[in-house]
Formats: sequence, C-alpha cells, structure tokens
Amino acid sequence: MALISAPSLRSRFTQLVILALFILSALWFFTPSFADVRQLPVPSAPHQPSSAAPNATHLPPKPNHPISHLLARADADFAALLAKETHNVHDAAEAYRRRRGRQPPPHFDQWVAFAQNHSAVIVEDFFDRIYADLAPFWGVPASQVRDQARGFVHRISVRGGNVTKRTDIEGGRVWVDLWADLVASVAEWCPDVDLAVNVMDESRVVVPWEEVDGYMGKERESRRIVPTEELRPYYGRLGRLNSKDAKAEALFEPEFGSYGPYWPLAVVGCPPDSPARKAYIETDFSTPPPLNGSVYPKGSHEGYVQNWTLATSPCDNPDLQGLHGTFVEPISIANTKTFFPLFGGSKLPMNNEILLPAAMYWTDDPFYSGGQGHGGAWAEKKDQVIWRGAASGGRNKEENWTRFQRHRFVSMMNATSVGLAETGEQQAVNFAVPADGAYDLAALATPAEPATAPATAKAGKGGLGALADWIATWADAAFVHLLCFPDPSPPHCSYTDFYYSVHKALPMMKQYAYKYLPDIDGNSFSGRYRAFLFSTSLPIKATIYQEWHDSRLVAWKHFVPMDNTFSDVYGIMEYFVGNAGMGVGGHDAEAERIAREGREWAERVLRREDMRVYVLRLLMEYARVGDGEREIMGWREEG
Ligand SMILES: *[C@@H]1O[C@H](CO)[C@@H](O)[C@H](O)[C@H]1NC(C)=O
Ligand SMILES: *[C@@H]1O[C@H](CO)[C@@H](O)[C@H](O)[C@H]1NC(C)=O
Ligand SMILES: *[C@@H]1O[C@H](CO)[C@@H](O)[C@H](O)[C@H]1NC(C)=O
Ligand SMILES: *[C@@H]1O[C@H](CO)[C@@H](O)[C@H](O)[C@H]1NC(C)=O
Ligand SMILES: *[C@@H]1O[C@H](CO)[C@@H](O)[C@H](O)[C@H]1NC(C)=O
Ligand SMILES: *[C@@H]1O[C@H](CO)[C@@H](O)[C@H](O)[C@H]1NC(C)=O
Ligand SMILES: *[C@@H]1O[C@H](CO)[C@@H](O)[C@H](O)[C@H]1NC(C)=O
Repeated sequence: MALISAPSLRSRFTQLVILALFILSALWFFTPSFADVRQLPVPSAPHQPSSAAPNATHLPPKPNHPISHLLARADADFAALLAKETHNVHDAAEAYRRRRGRQPPPHFDQWVAFAQNHSAVIVEDFFDRIYADLAPFWGVPASQVRDQARGFVHRISVRGGNVTKRTDIEGGRVWVDLWADLVASVAEWCPDVDLAVNVMDESRVVVPWEEVDGYMGKERESRRIVPTEELRPYYGRLGRLNSKDAKAEALFEPEFGSYGPYWPLAVVGCPPDSPARKAYIETDFSTPPPLNGSVYPKGSHEGYVQNWTLATSPCDNPDLQGLHGTFVEPISIANTKTFFPLFGGSKLPMNNEILLPAAMYWTDDPFYSGGQGHGGAWAEKKDQVIWRGAASGGRNKEENWTRFQRHRFVSMMNATSVGLAETGEQQAVNFAVPADGAYDLAALATPAEPATAPATAKAGKGGLGALADWIATWADAAFVHLLCFPDPSPPHCSYTDFYYSVHKALPMMKQYAYKYLPDIDGNSFSGRYRAFLFSTSLPIKATIYQEWHDSRLVAWKHFVPMDNTFSDVYGIMEYFVGNAGMGVGGHDAEAERIAREGREWAERVLRREDMRVYVLRLLMEYARVGDGEREIMGWREEG
C-alpha cells in the first residue's frame, strides 16, 4: 500500500489499524438484515467499489422486515396522539388539568385564542417538555427563581409587554438577539419575566439527581386542582429594571467549573440506579470504540431504534462516554451544579436547562434554514445519502479522534475505508487485539462466531468487499473542514488528512437533490434538523440532545431514528435502497412517505407560529412558578 511510504510510518499505521478496527467493530455490530449479506458469495474484486451502481428497484423487498413493523407501530402511536387534539378553551383546559394535575395558568383563554388565531394544533402532550423542565422549580422558593434570573449576566426581560436584553459579551449577542426577538413576538400577551439565557453552544447546568429529585417531590406534593373561587386569575408585576446602569443591579453569579472531562460531571444528573451511574468511567480514548458486536443496542427492536427516549439517553447508554465528542472532549465546559433557571436551545437529558426553540431555528440565515424552497419531487432525487459538515463534535485530537461521532459516521460511509479495512484485516486484528483476546474483533480473523451473536454469518473477506461495493452505490459523505487541535493548516489536519479528504461545502438546497439526509450532532445538537424536516428528503437522525419539539415528532413517522453507535445504518439503508448484489429490493415508497408526512407535519407544528405558541405557554408557566402566590394562581373558567 502506498500509504506505508508515509514519513511517520508507525504512528500512521497504528492509526490505520485503529480506524480499521473501528470500522470492523461497527460491521461486526451490524443489524440483522445486513447479516444475510455476509452469507453471500465473494465478489471478484471485493475492495474496489464498482462504478456501475446496481439497481435494486425491480427486486422484491424482504418480507416481515423489523422496520416495517416499526413503521406500522409509529402510525398507530401518531394516530393516538392526534386523537387528543382539542378545539376549544374548555376542552384544552380539561386536557390540561388531567395531564398536569393543576389549574391552567392565568390568561389560559388568551393563550388558546393566540394558538387558534395562528392555526396551531393543540395537543396538550406537545407541551410536555415545558413541564419536565419547569417542574423542579416548584421545589424552590419563588423569590429564588425570580432573583437568580434577574441577576444573571445574560438576560432577556419583559416588562409591560416591552422586551429588553442585557449581555456582556459580543459573541453571545447573536443568540440573545434572536431569542429576544422571539420573545418580543409574543410579548403583547406575556406576563413580566426575566430569562437568564445560555449564550454558549453547550448546555451548562447539571445538578445532582438526588437534589433535583427532592424538588420534584415538593412539586408533586404541591399539585392540586384549586377550586375556582380560590383562584388568583392574574400575574404580578415585576420591579423596574435599571436600564441605564445594569451593573448597579445585584448580580447572581453561579460558579462555573471549566475543567474536563465532562462525563464524570454529567453522570451526577442520572438516576442512582441508572447504567451510567454504575458504569466504569473510561479514561483512555486511544483504543477502539467500545462497540460490542454480540449485542443489539439496548431496548431496540431487532437492532433498530424503537424507544427514541432510551436510544438518545446517555444515562441509559454509558458506552456513549466513549462514542460522542461531548463526552470525549467538548470544545468548552462551563458547568455548574447550582440549580437556577437558565434558558437554552438544547440539552442532554441530565441537564437542568429550560428549553426554548433553538435560536438558529428562529433565524432566516439559509445556513440553518435552508433558504427558500424545500427541494423538488422525490422521483427526481438521487437514491443516495448526502452528508457534508465540519469535523466538529468537540476538540478532536490525535489521541482520540476515532471516538468522535462525525468521524465514525463519515468513515462508515466511505467505501474505500471499508475496503481498506478488509485488506488490512488480518494484520489489523493481530496488531491491536489484546493478548488475552478480549476484544470481540478477534472473531473476524478466525471466522468464529461469538455465541450470542445476532448474526449467523461468518465474516469472510468477501463480506467486507461486498459491503464496500454496495456502500459505494449510495453513500456520499465528506468533511468540509477537519477542525483539529492543534490546527496549524486548516481546513486540513496532520493526523486525519490521511483518512478523510476535504470537500467543498454543499448548500442545503443542493443536498435536497438526494433522498437521504443523515443528521449527526456537532458540538451540541445539529441546527439543520428543522430545515431537513421541512425538506422533501428524508432525515435520518442520531442525537443525544433534547429540543423543544421532541414530544411533537414521532420516530419512524416523521423521521428515521438511528442509534448513536450507527450500528443500524447499513440495515436502514438496505431497507430503503435495497441491495442488488444480494438480491434484496428496497422500500422506496416507504422512504418517500416518511419524508412527505414528516414535512407535512412540520408545516403544521414546527412553524415559526408554533414556536411562538410554545414560548407564550412556557413564559406563562415560568411567570407563575416565580410568583409567591403560585399555589393559588390559575385561570378562572367561567360558567
Ligand atoms: C432501476 O430500475 C427501474 C425498473 O427496472 C427503472 O425504472 C429505473 O429507472 C432504474 N433506476 C436507475 C437509477 O437505473
Ligand atoms: C385572536 O383573534 C381575534 C380576532 O381577530 C382578536 O380579537 C384577538 O385579539 C386575538 N387574540 C390573540 C390572543 O391573538
Ligand atoms: C413600553 O415602551 C413604550 C414605548 O417605548 C413606553 O411608552 C412604555 O412606557 C413602556 N412600558 C413599560 C411598562 O415600560
Ligand atoms: C459483548 O457482549 C457479550 C454478551 O453480553 C459479552 O459476553 C461480552 O463479554 C461482551 N464483549 C465485550 C468486549 O464487551
Ligand atoms: C422508553 O425509555 C424510557 C427511558 O428509559 C422509559 O422511561 C420509557 O418507559 C420507555 N418507553 C416505552 C414505551 O417503553
Ligand atoms: C482526548 O485526548 C486528549 C489528548 O491526549 C486528552 O487531553 C483528553 O483528555 C482526551 N479526552 C479524554 C476525555 O480523555
Ligand atoms: C475515504 O477513505 C480513503 C481511505 O482512507 C481516503 O483516502 C479518502 O479521503 C476518504 N474519502 C473521504 C470523502 O473522506
């Protein structure tokens, strides 16, 4: 191989070996439908991707595929959700009382009118996020909530329907401006509030689970349906702000620690009996990623995501500590254990932020919004995956870049990499497998099967070669910047140049010429997701981040969910595009349907109007929880 003549031969070879290992491990950890591929005959030139793309459209699809089962279940789940829609203030209030165990907040009738004036679909469950985020604040004094928010350095305030903002850093201004604009769009109906806002990409508050559990207990105790005559049906006013001299006001300055790594700081937010709290804390990220080919992802349906909450939860999947840049080495950590009401655009399940729609969802910047137009007809699109992005995810370094999610994904989409892994296979495995043979990949060198392997096939060389050939027919993924640390030669990188080429960025509109749009977390959540949902192509989503819209999107109905290991990606693609070499047809009509229904749903519940409806409800609840008389505040339903 030409690459062996490279100057620092040994270190590069070591890295090639690691790369080969992580691809192999991903393959070994494959999904059931792909398993069959391995049983088929060895193609003649296994690691050379073939130029003629085989056409699987005329072949019969595999019957009883697990994904077909998941699609049917998603239809039923979604129908059940939609059946809860309410159409007048009385029914909306009843649904509220049933789900929340309290009276709706004051001016609830105005909120319903606002939602109806903007043609919003009113399903109480769509607002679950608000209640999950705010519940623990019922466990601390209302005055504490108010004072902390008012004193925070980055702040948006509403007084008598006027919006003001305070921030001390240039960089923070973009987010603060966008959010202030979003708040201003509902300020006319909004009570007085102060919002402390997070101006960084990463989420920042992790309060120990035990402490939050105590607050949650108080919230449950305080919950009751206050009789109508006892209700206080209005909001209080907050004191005037000193707009001339912000410094003259008392500052609330929680202590932010900025040392890593992040995983040990984050797991304190998980329940004590969760897998994450019990897991060994990894410290060495120079070894191959911890993918175990003998087991399906936890809670999956035959290898495919069936519980999106579970699949995206680091508390339930401690291996994510070594598979995601957020935990391996984030760009910045400014973490606090102090419980206070900080608003942000996304968070991990163990964070305590209160979510607003992400600021980039409110902007018109085509980088995030995709610009005007959402792509053409399905039939005219390429039957392919397209992915372009920066090698972000955290501070990727020579020692640990193989653990970063985008690196792992782009390698798995690279037919040449997969083919090379095959030629280096014997050596690679011998080189890196510990002497005690503990790493499962040893199985690839001596095609024996782990006893519990979901697959029955043997991993011969032909299996990988055939895989590479097939990947070449549908995958087009590349970095546009290698973003390394240190970074003397951007967009290139001394230690990853060898594995990745740098391609030109592709505007979102051009990406819509492809049917399949994987969406992979960057430094935090991926800001293009909303645009992808509005497009006429199909988003395939993996993430560990939560967002405002989570309870209004149904996995397999509006988007295709993917495990954070990506162990299911080949199975997903085989289901949709088929695999001519293996005699398996695809499910193009199903892909088209999810793309269409996801888009139609986005046009009903993810519009800018829907963000406003969400934010108005959020701020009404937030104002109540910060009011000394919150226990008796509520909307007084007449008649
Ligand atoms: C694949 O085959 C179908 C039916 O045989 C044909 O209509 C379609 O145009 C072909 N697609 C490509 C990309 O060759
Ligand atoms: C809703 O629309 C009606 C009729 O246009 C208007 O009178 C009312 O003020 C609106 N209310 C809200 C909260 O938007
Ligand atoms: C809101 O702004 C308007 C126009 O600047 C001003 O007249 C009004 O007094 C302000 N209201 C409050 C409560 O600050
Ligand atoms: C993989 O999972 C199997 C079955 O649970 C287990 O026996 C084996 O030790 C695991 N291997 C590794 C390397 O963790
Ligand atoms: C999905 O997983 C979450 C988190 O583990 C769990 O609380 C929930 O009950 C699960 N949902 C279903 C339908 O199994
Ligand atoms: C990733 O590698 C860098 C460089 O060796 C190291 O400083 C950092 O601590 C690593 N991350 C973790 C979580 O070990
Ligand atoms: C695919 O992998 C090969 C071999 O590692 C590498 O040379 C090439 O640059 C990669 N392609 C992309 C788009 O990253």
